Amino acid sequence: MSFKLKKNFLMGAATAATQIEGGECGHNWNDWYRQGKITDNSNPARANDHYNRWKEDIDLMAEMRIKIYRFGIEWARICPAEDRVDEEAINHYREEIKYLIKKKMKPLLTIHHFANPMWFENKGGFTNSGNIPVFLKYVKTVIESFGDLVPEYITINEPNVYATQSYYYGLWPPGGKSMLTAYKVMSNMAACHIEAYKMIHEMRKKMGHEDTKVSFALHARIFDPLKPHNSWHRICTYLLDRFFQQAIMEAMTLGVFRWPITKVDTAGKGEYCDFIAINYYTRSTISGFRDGVRKGSPKNDLGWEIYPNGIMRACLNYYRLIRRPIYITENGTCDNNDAFRSLYIHDHLKVLSELDLPVERYYHWCFCDNFEWIEGESARFGLVHVDFETQERTVKKSGEFYKEIIENHGVTDEMYDKFVKDREYHY
Ligand code: BGC
Repeated sequence: MSFKLKKNFLMGAATAATQIEGGECGHNWNDWYRQGKITDNSNPARANDHYNRWKEDIDLMAEMRIKIYRFGIEWARICPAEDRVDEEAINHYREEIKYLIKKKMKPLLTIHHFANPMWFENKGGFTNSGNIPVFLKYVKTVIESFGDLVPEYITINEPNVYATQSYYYGLWPPGGKSMLTAYKVMSNMAACHIEAYKMIHEMRKKMGHEDTKVSFALHARIFDPLKPHNSWHRICTYLLDRFFQQAIMEAMTLGVFRWPITKVDTAGKGEYCDFIAINYYTRSTISGFRDGVRKGSPKNDLGWEIYPNGIMRACLNYYRLIRRPIYITENGTCDNNDAFRSLYIHDHLKVLSELDLPVERYYHWCFCDNFEWIEGESARFGLVHVDFETQERTVKKSGEFYKEIIENHGVTDEMYDKFVKDREYHY
């Protein structure tokens, strides 16, 4: 059960601003909380108080030997109004980024991760193609402010999850329930990504930098029919896969807008991806037009199937579309008692170590327990435990395992016996 990781494989952690920072910033999740939509009623204004404790958190990451860090910045903080940029917020993030670099961690900056300022939301957000320049203006501010420090960017996190949760299932702000609108949002986000990709490259080039890398993070899911020989199950699998990820992946990566994504004027064909960014969690088992979970499969605390081979299939699926280095920009699990996270990490990294593709980076989701969107503080994904009342951080057993994997560049038999053996998933 021991394995070695590939030579240039780097490991780190991922977070998102809204999930860790805390504070009343005038974004749509502050508002969603006030509308009573968080299932455990926890307040994103608390979260991890990372906006004040960033130094302590970075120190802890350094102690855990983390080499790469994917993090977000809060649009609503940077632009509290459409025509205002808050220099204090910019300086705050600059300090944080400089400290990260000082601690020898390579930053990967996510520009948009599910949260919008309310002033943008009130203008129709991404449902309105007239708002594409508004998003691009924010991107311009980001590069003017951080472009000298950060070479690598994710423009938009999981447009497929954002559009479906916020505009089809109605679970996330603003609670829309229209498939048509969800596709409009995906189409507009694809145009935003393409234009942002070009802009970031151009701007950094003018600043004299040649090392720019830009992509978007795809929530890559595996779709399998419940019964492989049942034609209905297969048709539904094909369609859900296309609806959820194939169409948006083609649009954002290559500027190819095909059903059900519609073309937005500004975007042309090209290659808009310097690395493949995959967020992988689970598989859907399909027997109709809805999500399903395989009976008897291992599951996490949210009931998601744990399917380690899926990480390989997700990489292969994307690599067929475009040959680029692969970064796993998120992978992790909700395990409130840290009962099986080490097993999960072991199983997914082992699959990656055996995969004959250029997988170069792995960002575990998440560094510490945080505000998990509508599940609030009730779903723990962290390598580090957070007591939300006292804000005390404690490295979990799986966090110690993670640190040892980084130090040993793999898992030894001793490590396996200490951290993984006898751990079990739920069934
Ligand atoms: C999102 C994260 C989220 C994680 C676990 C991903 O889809 O990017 O923000 O916390 O899944 O649900």
